[in-house]
Amino acid sequence: MGQDKKANTASNEHGASMDRIVSLSKSRGLIYPSSEIYGGLSATWDYGPLGVELKKNIQDCWWKEMVRRHENILGLDAAIMMHPRTWEASGHVDNFSDPLVDCKKCKTRFREDQLKEIRLEKGIADASCPECGGELTEARQFNLMFTTQMGPVEESGSLIYLRPETAQGIFVNFKNVVDTSRVKIPFGVAQVGKAFRNEITTKNFIFRTCEFEQMEMQYFVKPGNEDEAFEEWKAKRMAWYIEQLGIKPERLRYHEHGPNELAHYAKVAVDIEYKYPFGWQELEGIHSRTDYDLRRHGEFCGKEINYLDPEDNSRFIPYVIETSSGLTRSVLVVLVDAFHEQTIGENKDGSPDIRTVLHFHPDIAPVKVAVLPLVKKDGLAEIAGNIEKNLREDFSTFYDHGGAIGRRYRRMDEIGTPFCVTVDYQTKDDRSVTLRFRDSMRQIRIPIEGIPERLRHESRGYRRIQ
Ligand code: GAP
Repeated sequence: MGQDKKANTASNEHGASMDRIVSLSKSRGLIYPSSEIYGGLSATWDYGPLGVELKKNIQDCWWKEMVRRHENILGLDAAIMMHPRTWEASGHVDNFSDPLVDCKKCKTRFREDQLKEIRLEKGIADASCPECGGELTEARQFNLMFTTQMGPVEESGSLIYLRPETAQGIFVNFKNVVDTSRVKIPFGVAQVGKAFRNEITTKNFIFRTCEFEQMEMQYFVKPGNEDEAFEEWKAKRMAWYIEQLGIKPERLRYHEHGPNELAHYAKVAVDIEYKYPFGWQELEGIHSRTDYDLRRHGEFCGKEINYLDPEDNSRFIPYVIETSSGLTRSVLVVLVDAFHEQTIGENKDGSPDIRTVLHFHPDIAPVKVAVLPLVKKDGLAEIAGNIEKNLREDFSTFYDHGGAIGRRYRRMDEIGTPFCVTVDYQTKDDRSVTLRFRDSMRQIRIPIEGIPERLRHESRGYRRIQ
């Protein structure tokens, strides 16, 4: 059950190897292997003090974009455990499976659709097991949903599933939302939450895990308007990654699904892909789901789920455009994209002086501002402590008085803190401080009273350097 210990040195054009990102995440309290004291549990990870802030900031940024900025999008938080009929109606019981093959000799299990890629990676031409050359079984379908029992008696009637997508919580509440909030089509319902899939291939850190989080929005439209809405959301979602999360545009692209790639519910689908150190892969799926889900839930619950249009009194089952982003996968993208090892000079022994920087957008950085007294003595620590206390209410802050100031700046660069405020002897004379910028390492002098407004101003106008 241990974590995959194989070296993963694949790196992107800025040298972000997955191994470096995994080790930085661990050493700086972003992400730890789950249940590590017992040797870890593969494909599960825990978010540490800084990781949970980063994840929450990304979630808040998404919520603000989708729910706060759109007057016709409402929020929801449905239960993870749902009535088991949900998953019959949604098609997941019959269709949500991967084709699996086992090696008869070493017992390693593979997804048949990934064998070609694994063989290519290893430079193997024949059709035997890529691990040991043994004979492989025929492919069989393996359902990805986790099951558990509800109630004290283990009988088939109490079998339930852990949801494999958050979307169904929105579909089964469609009528509740319409009846209680007086929204008119087109409108959307947004939700963030955990989803679970018994994934067979789980490598590359938090990219594909058995327990993960999604940020999904179902946009309900009148049949016939779905293609226009699909194009609208396709553009909006790409813009969000670039403008709000600060992801490099050249590392993002669309991938249109061919007929063999489409999920069982989708008429048309496009992925937003990111260029990870291990290649181009999905970050978000945008799907035109027709009336598939609402119609099927109507059939399975015995009462059609439809919508009465007050404009023309027509009654119809709405069509759905879905935007489905991975929250935990977005954390990975943000980390990979922000990671930079920059040579900024030479050490005394002639070796390159390299600083590690996470160029997080200030809106999502786990710590927004560090307050540092140049030295602890002569009252500087007290002044810095007071500044930090005053900033706490509005910003995530960090106070540190230990060690040389240069080393403290480097520690802040490593966790992606965009701004450092330094208190020195001049502060005592004129109540001014140094404001240091992470990306450029530029330093300016500003009055203590001007710090909050200046931080807000710099965050609003942030443009990544490097
Ligand atoms: N409701 C539609 C749906 O779930 P999906 O393409 O299967 O569509 C959407 O998943 C997003 O959820 C993916 O683009 C990815 O970001 C995230 N995701 C899916 N499976 C994941 C896993 N095993 N680990 C981490 N993230 C995952």
